[in-house]
Amino acid sequence: MSHAEDNEGTRRDFLYYATAGAGAVAAGAVIWPLVNQMNPSADVQAMSSIRVDVSGVETGTQITVKFLGKPVFIRRRTEKEIEEGRAVELSALVDGNAENSNLPADAPATDQNRTMDEAGEWLVMMGVCTHLGCVPLGNNSGDYDGWFCPCHGSHYDTAGRIRKGPAPRNLPIPLAEFVDETTIKLG
Ligand code: FES
Repeated sequence: MSHAEDNEGTRRDFLYYATAGAGAVAAGAVIWPLVNQMNPSADVQAMSSIRVDVSGVETGTQITVKFLGKPVFIRRRTEKEIEEGRAVELSALVDGNAENSNLPADAPATDQNRTMDEAGEWLVMMGVCTHLGCVPLGNNSGDYDGWFCPCHGSHYDTAGRIRKGPAPRNLPIPLAEFVDETTIKLG
């Protein structure tokens, strides 16, 4: 197998993208050199953490990357989305828990506790409906301007919090951090 084929095959095996975007493509390019240098047992470790280049993600858009076999949404929110998310009273929420792996388990589901940065621009969460696991539609879908799961009609707001329908929990936020201005590390 030539080096080029090997490279392609590895990317295909390890990382699928539900939605291709500049950021998602760059993430594949980043992970390859890491995997290439590691022995097989370390490959598994490499997959428990990936870096995603989000420099190409425009305000008001999102990318979906596959991480540990599941889709992860990375959205760059608009001012309107941030304002809407912050205006919600906690008492209006179905699930009052932030469901954020980066915070204490009892952190409340404020908009601020759901985002990566203080300005509230970046929202990273698992793209898996907490009802039965469908992938919700994004880009201001549903009654709350966030995500909508058409399987049984669950509506999530601009912070990915469940507001209506059968899903019991907010979309969970995985371990995630900015390692530089344009790179988010998952895991
Ligand atoms: S799986 Fe999303 S509403 Fe049922």
